[in-house]
Amino acid sequence: MHVNLILMGPPGAGKGTQSALLGDRLKEACISTGNILREEVRRKSPLGTEAKRHMDKGELVPDDVMIGVIEDRLRQPDCDPGFILDGFPRTVPQAEALDRALRTLGRRLDVVVSLAVPNEELIKRLSGRRTCRECGALYHIIFDPPTNAGICNKCNGDLYQRDDDQEDIIVSRLEVYTRETAPLLQYYRARNLLAEIDGTGGREDILARIVERLENRL
Ligand code: AP5
Repeated sequence: MHVNLILMGPPGAGKGTQSALLGDRLKEACISTGNILREEVRRKSPLGTEAKRHMDKGELVPDDVMIGVIEDRLRQPDCDPGFILDGFPRTVPQAEALDRALRTLGRRLDVVVSLAVPNEELIKRLSGRRTCRECGALYHIIFDPPTNAGICNKCNGDLYQRDDDQEDIIVSRLEVYTRETAPLLQYYRARNLLAEIDGTGGREDILARIVERLENRL
């Protein structure tokens, strides 16, 4: 099974976690705009410097910047079989630009999976998240701790806490999601592309819900 899929959901809904699991299962490119931006910040590139100003406050990076990033990324050959978009689009203008970019490439979206998780759970997930500096693997200090504290099970890399996972910035990110991104649910519902999935419970259970929904739709 190959699909062109968007994973949506508020910060901490498990987009990165499910994107990695689904990417392994479907052998598809996982495109996280958050990871692309964090890599640019690490390299101190002009894009990274611009993005950091917004990310540190929990705000969105401007649409024109993000649209350019995603247009370039979708042209890479690893997207040919199918792709999983994690964190894009986040605004209606980004969704419209994605529609245009896919039309130009002769592709179309198959499904938009939206993960629903209550706010109290999102805050617990984000405040305990740790990420591997080397391979990007995700952990949680309580829900999914590494075997050795601070060290990645997969590659022995250092685990770090994201700058935007401080409680005040988490609250801003949740507000931005409600204001800017949640309207996309209606955008995709109206196009009959939306699959709303309960994002609570175990990771594998959530993955099974997503795969079942994909099999029913395709
Ligand atoms: P981005 O990196 O995309 O952040 P986000 O959308 O806020 O989402 P997160 O990465 O925080 O959460 P997630 O849903 O991936 O959850 P995860 O799987 O990690 O974007 C960061 C910033 O970049 C934005 O604020 C913005 O500034 C900018 N940006 C990015 N894209 C942009 C765009 N298109 N336009 C403009 N700006 C853009 O899980 C979270 C934690 O929960 C982990 O610790 C995990 O282990 C744990 N967990 C996962 N699943 C479960 C489970 N089932 N049970 C218990 N714990 C779980």
